[in-house]
Amino acid sequence: MLMIIITIGNAMAELGRLLMYEASRDWLPIVTGEIQSPMGVASVEFIDPREPVAVVPILRAGLALVEYASSILPATKTYHLGISRDEETLRPTIYLNKLPDKFPEGSRVFVVDPMLATGGTIVAALALLKERGVDNKQIKVISAVAAPPALQKLSEKFPGLHVYAGIIDPTVNEKGFIIPGLGDAGDRSFG
Ligand code: PRP
Repeated sequence: MLMIIITIGNAMAELGRLLMYEASRDWLPIVTGEIQSPMGVASVEFIDPREPVAVVPILRAGLALVEYASSILPATKTYHLGISRDEETLRPTIYLNKLPDKFPEGSRVFVVDPMLATGGTIVAALALLKERGVDNKQIKVISAVAAPPALQKLSEKFPGLHVYAGIIDPTVNEKGFIIPGLGDAGDRSFG
């Protein structure tokens, strides 16, 4: 008997890969060239490796969603941001910031966080990017489950921003959990 076990970890990673593929479409600069195959010369298109592309996973849960990103975007830089939400106040605290003081001119930045609930975390992350010279149009947010309060805040504070989410769920409860959502993504991925 063949048993296939899908854990939240690899489902998240696979979803992240699909969403980043979609978000990359018609956004990343493409160059054309030729390669020599054993049977002849083939024309190819590939992502221009000279253009700066960055991935910013928001720890912890963002690490699960970004795990397979390098398989579709091999030439990116990864800058980690650790943000945790207080369980009582739901306010975010930044406990790790590995962002550069300034992003290279023209950078395209993927910000990756599986859950956009009240929106406090993603707003804090994007404010740090803005301070470092990154415009809304240079950012794509990648998320598994987004909820209306977060999307509302993002559209007010960062007009023109694009969010790629697996699903939009309708509600955030009084404890800050998305309903139905998937529970605590960080705990489910890392315990
Ligand atoms: C969770 C989740 C998001 C954030 C969303 O992180 O992974 O980062 O909360 O909530 P918000 O939109 O209301 O700010 P958590 O603080 O639980 O940290 P973790 O990823 O380390 O579990």
